Amino acid sequence: MTTIGVIGGTGGQGLGIATRFVEAGEDVIIGSRTIEKAQAAVDKVKELLPGARNIRAAANPDAAKAADVLVLTVPLAAQKDTLLSIKEGAAGKPLLDATGPLESCIGGSATKYIDLPEGSAAERSQSILPDAKVICAFNNISQTWFMQLGEPIDCDCLICGNDQAAKDLVAPLIEKIPGVKVIDCGKLERACIIEKITPLLIGLNIKNKCQFGGIRITGLDRIKACDTK
Ligand SMILES: NC(=O)c1ccc[n+]([C@@H]2O[C@H](COP(=O)([O-])OP(=O)(O)OC[C@H]3O[C@@H](n4cnc5c(N)ncnc54)[C@H](OP(=O)(O)O)[C@@H]3O)[C@@H](O)[C@H]2O)c1
Repeated sequence: MTTIGVIGGTGGQGLGIATRFVEAGEDVIIGSRTIEKAQAAVDKVKELLPGARNIRAAANPDAAKAADVLVLTVPLAAQKDTLLSIKEGAAGKPLLDATGPLESCIGGSATKYIDLPEGSAAERSQSILPDAKVICAFNNISQTWFMQLGEPIDCDCLICGNDQAAKDLVAPLIEKIPGVKVIDCGKLERACIIEKITPLLIGLNIKNKCQFGGIRITGLDRIKACDTK
């Protein structure tokens, strides 16, 4: 069993990811700036999954120290301070970064992307925490999907990062969430492409008056079969 620390796990995205990992039988710690808020989030997960024992609350720095794998689910405006608060615990660990650089973070539209000097939110995380193994992940799966408990999620999880061993470690973990297929998109420099799909999906959701827009990459198995002939 892997211990997963969801940093800022008290919002919609973190709570959804935490709930799915608890449902999958992993050990989850919900992190927050305050232990009371983390405990309230844990209570919410226990309401959704009665009898769940594999979840607990901690302050973000303690969650990071105790976990094997970290998930970052805070708004862009909180990214730097939150990462600096977990610097010690995150060193050497895979850190799955869901941060979306959307214009809504600065009072604009959630359908527009903010270009960051580092290239992407995930590269910004890597520059703030050079010792963590940052992997861009969970950007394209909405909290609405995570919260459809009992239903497989109809969306791939596009990931990228510079540490292959870390990606190989987290891919089977992420695929414990029913329906989710992990697509390794390569180095962290691809994160801007993955992150830009999110405002596209939000725009499509608005246009179609729904909340389940997702993305599937197809045909990759077929290419593999051709190569091996
Ligand atoms: N929601 C989605 O469907 C979705 C989908 C894809 C990607 N994402 C990305 O995932 C991240 C989290 O999304 P969310 O909707 O869950 O966000 P959220 O609810 O706004 O915030 C998540 C948590 O971040 C912490 N936080 C918020 N503002 C902060 C601040 N100013 N300083 C420090 N900590 C702060 C809070 O935790 P505490 O108060 O407990 O510390 C909060 O509960 C975002 O970057 C978003 O772009 C979201």
